[in-house]
Amino acid sequence: MSRYEAERAAWRADPQGWWMRAARAIDWITPPRTAFDPHSGPHGRWFPDGVLNTCHNALDRHVAAGRGAQAALIHDSPMTGRVTRITYAELTDRVARLAGALAARGVAKGERVLIYMPMVPEAAIAMLACARLGAIHSVVFGGFAAAELAARINDATPRAVITASCGLEPGRVVPYKPLLDAAIGMAAHKPDFCLVLQRPEAPAELIPGRDEDYAAAEAAGAPHPCVPVTATDPLYILYTSGTTGQPKGIVRDHGGHAVALQHSMRMIYGVEAGDVYWAASDVGWVVGHSYIVYAPLLAGCTSVLFEGKPVGTPDAGTFWRVCAEHGVRVMFTAPTALRAIRKEDPEGRLMARHDLSRLEALFLAGERCDPPTAEWAAERLNIPVVDHWWQTETGWAITAGFRDHGLFPPRPGSGGKPSPGFDVRVLDAEGQEVAPGAEGALALRLPLPPGCAPTLWNAEARYTQAYLSTFPGFYDTSDAGRVDEEGFVWVMGRTDDVINVAGHRLSTGAMEEVLASHPDVAECAVVGAADALKGQVPLGLVVLKAGVARGEAEIAAELVALVRQRIGPVAAFRDARVVPRLPKTRSGKILRATIRRIADGQDFAAPATIDDPAILDEIQEALTR
Ligand code: COA
Ligand code: AMP
Repeated sequence: MSRYEAERAAWRADPQGWWMRAARAIDWITPPRTAFDPHSGPHGRWFPDGVLNTCHNALDRHVAAGRGAQAALIHDSPMTGRVTRITYAELTDRVARLAGALAARGVAKGERVLIYMPMVPEAAIAMLACARLGAIHSVVFGGFAAAELAARINDATPRAVITASCGLEPGRVVPYKPLLDAAIGMAAHKPDFCLVLQRPEAPAELIPGRDEDYAAAEAAGAPHPCVPVTATDPLYILYTSGTTGQPKGIVRDHGGHAVALQHSMRMIYGVEAGDVYWAASDVGWVVGHSYIVYAPLLAGCTSVLFEGKPVGTPDAGTFWRVCAEHGVRVMFTAPTALRAIRKEDPEGRLMARHDLSRLEALFLAGERCDPPTAEWAAERLNIPVVDHWWQTETGWAITAGFRDHGLFPPRPGSGGKPSPGFDVRVLDAEGQEVAPGAEGALALRLPLPPGCAPTLWNAEARYTQAYLSTFPGFYDTSDAGRVDEEGFVWVMGRTDDVINVAGHRLSTGAMEEVLASHPDVAECAVVGAADALKGQVPLGLVVLKAGVARGEAEIAAELVALVRQRIGPVAAFRDARVVPRLPKTRSGKILRATIRRIADGQDFAAPATIDDPAILDEIQEALTR
């Protein structure tokens, strides 16, 4: 039996005892006596009687253990040309001061703080300061527009907003303050105050009585101690795309999250205290929450916080420069980033300029990695390249390769095998398990392990409806795929209206709502079309209202601008086509899957339920125009 099989067997034999042992790696104020309460929340809660503080576990305990002088964060910013190291002692002091500043302005345990920041250390400091107070942070990705920010402000009703004056994208400075001001203007809920980190690239004007300078507030803050919270108290809300325009507020609790993430650092990534770990993501996404901020710090690692892009800042060798310069042992990125690098440096010439002898493994997630990209990286880097599958909801990998258990031989295209803690099943439409190797819906048998979202913010019924109602007794991942005879999981794609664009999770439903709001549009459909670099890109088809005589190109340009304005540049919506009609079933359902096949140039057959097969030729004609 392999180490992996032995570990799975140990977990299966006694799941609660297995997680209670994992929980010993966390400092508890009151250690949990109950591992799991199946009767609480939509699918049970972990460690319900435990009391802890996540910030203490991420910072103070490492200082107490003698790691004060070790770098906790390395901020490497090719956008500004600066590299800043912050030790555990410095980070603890800065976080405690910011917590004091927030508390002095009325932020208390259980209250929300919205964080809208680029990739600067202050984003992590703000998150940890909230955790220190037991306040609930909600980080919003910088590429979202004011309307998206306003929707999150209304749902989370934050007492405070912490922001920066600007973000830095290649070739342009993105002023954040006008977006925040517009969002607060639009939102029904108004925060009491905003702290604004002034960046020299574009300082912002502060609104007297509402806005304060972040740096001054942090510096003057009286260091605040860690506030005890119960394991089931919320640590954060992270909004993610669902099937409609209203994003889902994924809730993460303190105790299960700390236990699962700390455990994953050794089991999956094979790193320990003192190691340098780098997740090249953004704090606005779940990967950033889990593997830039919380997990590496819980484990006492040095985490790299990178403000740049895989290419163009300044070139396709940047990732390897960062690995070499900081001695990164394990790296995590999205396949789309590797595809971008490979396109510019196929022979690995820029890679060869850097000493990558300390880099031991590369992990990938965010979308399925196409085998040629995984094989290219493994060959060039000569290290294991491990694809692992997870979701914002789960917070850590459902399937993976396990460095601590001996990695499996590579299976490019597969997401690995289930992590101990996750019971992955493939179900047919009736909820029956299919034969090994057959495709179906990927579902997780309840209970979910610690770290997975226990509920949705203000929307417990939506949680049950979205995840637990399709297959009673299971969590529906909304991914389709198969599990082969050897237990490898192959994730084939979403079964809902969520698409993955350059590793960013987006809702086609949300984009359809925007297109439908254009005065000339009668109806529309948005699908994710295959893209060699970004994996998928959104493609909009619109039918115009009768009598609209304006040029199609003009309307298409307006639609592109409208999505950018309402959802944000991250939607990467650049292609809107006018079509005479949309293909539908006889009951009126738009045949999005067929549209997608046509857009991808794949063979397609008119579904038996189609209302009028001739429409498919019209669509094909419009898409090849
Ligand atoms: N703030 C403001 N704007 C942002 C932004 C941010 N944080 N992030 C992206 N944008 C903007 C980009 O500037 C771009 O704007 P543009 O339309 O004016 O050019 C737009 O959003 C689309 O961005 P993106 O889809 O990322 O495309 P790109 O061409 O800029 O970059 C990649 C392509 C592949 C290099 C880039 O997408 C990438 O690095 N992806 C990896 C993503 C990742 O790590 N995801 C985490 C999951 S693990
Ligand atoms: P997010 O919530 O942004 O992490 O996106 C989650 C979705 O991304 C999943 O439901 C999958 O569709 C997709 N995804 C993430 N990682 C992988 C992977 N390794 N392989 C295949 N799909 C993935």
